[in-house]
Amino acid sequence: MNKPDANSAWAKDRAHVLHPYTDFSSFHDEGSQVISGASGMYVTDADGRKLLDGIAGLWCVNIGHGRQEMAEAISAQAVQMQYYNPFGHSTNVPAAELGFWLAQNAPGDLNHVYYTCGVSTANDAAIRLVHYYNSMRGLHRKKKIISRNRAYHGATCVAAELTGILATKNGFDRIGQDFIHHVSAANMYANPDDMTEAAYCDHLVQEFRDRIEQLGPDNVAAFIAEPVMGAGGVLIAPEGYHRRMLEVCKKHDILYIADEVVTAFGRLGEWFASD
Ligand SMILES: Cc1ncc(COP(=O)(O)O)c(C=O)c1O
Repeated sequence: MNKPDANSAWAKDRAHVLHPYTDFSSFHDEGSQVISGASGMYVTDADGRKLLDGIAGLWCVNIGHGRQEMAEAISAQAVQMQYYNPFGHSTNVPAAELGFWLAQNAPGDLNHVYYTCGVSTANDAAIRLVHYYNSMRGLHRKKKIISRNRAYHGATCVAAELTGILATKNGFDRIGQDFIHHVSAANMYANPDDMTEAAYCDHLVQEFRDRIEQLGPDNVAAFIAEPVMGAGGVLIAPEGYHRRMLEVCKKHDILYIADEVVTAFGRLGEWFASD
């Protein structure tokens, strides 16, 4: 293959590609960093510089770049059957096999899988299913969702509103503000008054309880959280936080949605951080 021409790629990109989360004023002057190769834990830019891929693509290259066995598996499947839809009563063998594997390995009693194209769409689908579920139970008011400041849940209409990073919303119309609310992030760096870890955990759990009371438990359908907050700063919650938030949820018949795109599939040593 010819050596990639960084200047040409840079110019085409600047002229035609709309990047998510870019400052367009500096982007137009500085353009893009053109990555043209990847192997193991490194990527190579178009000028041949080898760089450590510290965030693994975008938190998703768990097994490293350029794995031969993965390329062979993708290739074999593409030759056998590259796509068939799962709508209605159709399925295909890899979808069924993966669903079975996920059901065996998912935390607790989770045993059904709904496939989406990414995690923004997964979160949108989760909220849609939560609302549908409560409608089916006749709980037509129980629709509010509690998310957290600094959370990142994606860029589709609902996922962007679940996201608690205000800078990502500048200038955009807000869709879902009437039913999506935020509590504090579990951010030990911002722990007020230098509380102990246990006291800070109590403080966050109490804030959550207070918000549920304020909104009315009969109006709150779900809580959504990343086990370890990613884009919001790689923040590890105080010991016991997620378990206690789950207990509060259970007490009020509130569903707990774990957004595990960054933390699952072996990333933290278990298949799912929720374990
Ligand atoms: C925790 C979390 N949720 C959701 C998303 C959005 O995922 P996607 O870009 O696949 O829509 C991301 C992306 O990094 C994420 O880190």
